[in-house]
Amino acid sequence: MLRVPKEKSAPIVSAMKKYSADKVTPFHTPGHKQGRGAHEFLRELLTSEGLRQEVSLMEELDDLHEPHTCIKESENLAAKLWHADECIFVVNGTSAAVQAMIFGTLKAGDEILIPRNAHRSVIAGLILSGAVPIFLPVEYDEKFCVPLNVSTETVKRAIKNFPNVKAILLVSPNYYGVAADVAEIARLAHEVGIILMVDEAHGAHLQFSDELPLSAMDSGADLSAQSTHKILGSLTQTSMLMLRKNFIDVEKVKRAASLLQTTSPNQILLASLDIARLQMETDGHEKISSAVNLSKKIRAAIKNLRRLKTFDTVKNFSLDTTKVTVNVQDLGLTGQEAEKILRNELKVQCELSDVANLLFLITYADNEQTAEILIDALKKLPQRPIKKFSPPIVPKIISSATISPRETFYAPVESIRLEKSIGRICAEEITFYPPGIPLIMPGEKISAEVVALIRQEKLSGSRVIGAFDSTLETINVIT
Ligand SMILES: Cc1ncc(COP(=O)(O)O)c(C=O)c1O
Repeated sequence: MLRVPKEKSAPIVSAMKKYSADKVTPFHTPGHKQGRGAHEFLRELLTSEGLRQEVSLMEELDDLHEPHTCIKESENLAAKLWHADECIFVVNGTSAAVQAMIFGTLKAGDEILIPRNAHRSVIAGLILSGAVPIFLPVEYDEKFCVPLNVSTETVKRAIKNFPNVKAILLVSPNYYGVAADVAEIARLAHEVGIILMVDEAHGAHLQFSDELPLSAMDSGADLSAQSTHKILGSLTQTSMLMLRKNFIDVEKVKRAASLLQTTSPNQILLASLDIARLQMETDGHEKISSAVNLSKKIRAAIKNLRRLKTFDTVKNFSLDTTKVTVNVQDLGLTGQEAEKILRNELKVQCELSDVANLLFLITYADNEQTAEILIDALKKLPQRPIKKFSPPIVPKIISSATISPRETFYAPVESIRLEKSIGRICAEEITFYPPGIPLIMPGEKISAEVVALIRQEKLSGSRVIGAFDSTLETINVIT
């Protein structure tokens, strides 16, 4: 009999099929009993075969918390494909993977460098671990109104100014595809024994094209949290945590990931990770190269459209070109207005919109036809009188939280007038759009400068998010 090479198999899927074929009478979870009791709505969502295979906690289906058969085999294949030493499958989103990176490597009081605009899962990781953040400023492109990334110079300065730092967390590439120089930052970090973890939520595909920024693992990072579901072919909620052994205690990270994950992982979610890996194993390079080529064509077409701008390079940073940012300012529209028109009138949905841009993700699932639909829709965007934006205020300093997010989370809080808050410790996050980079984070001391900037932004009419009092008359501080 012809044997399928291990890499071309899907061990979790095989184990599920085998269990289903065994025709066991189930007296176990889930309650729908292999679809028998499923409501017709659930039947519409999943095929009867899917429901038959959606069982959990059977011995032959392995244990996500102590993988040793099919899950372990599938994780090992993923680790090999993404050039990691180990891989942990995650069914609680990249949020849980990011939390596990921090919780599994740092303890209370340890200092970590993080970009000021890191995802909220980073804050959750800090609360869980008790680690103390030092916020790094993020570069900003004023022409496109797009947050870039953390510069290598900034990281160098922070390492020098904060000699006790234990770890660095980068978000690379960011939502807009702008990547930090992870390889150089890994070198700088390891030179002084600092761990480098990368929130690579938007970069699970980097591995498969030489035209994309180098992946975190290939750049020498110690940990990388990837949203397989965002760009590749697994189901929403499924992610992978990649690990390199040299600078971290892998067993501790595994324990942290286990504590943060459900004890009833959905088998279909796990199977979807197995399948996404198999898909990339089989023809990942062709698929991702085709997405890169398509995004080049889309950009070229956008550049020919009057009043729309896009970029394919970013000074001092590399760019994941499959993320296509389209600036609509010269149409007199905000990104949010353009998104509504595209969605409601032209039946095209972008990934996100901001004050000036639309962001479109081009993945391996796109083709000439979807590209054409996108370009046609962009051509139809209306023109309105041009609006002027005042240049946004972008925090430029490296600053340390006075107390940890954990202490802030549990501290008693009071609401006081903004002008009385100077010198107090902030208990909330205040972010204006643009630039979408928090002006102040929980645990930071409120300076006279920050109060003046909040007043200035408020007067300019910028949109604020995160504030408990959206009028900004009052602010929450620690009592
Ligand atoms: C940079 C970044 N990190 C982490 C996450 C969390 O990912 P998930 O939604 O899979 O939990 C997101 C989600 O958008 C993100 O943008």
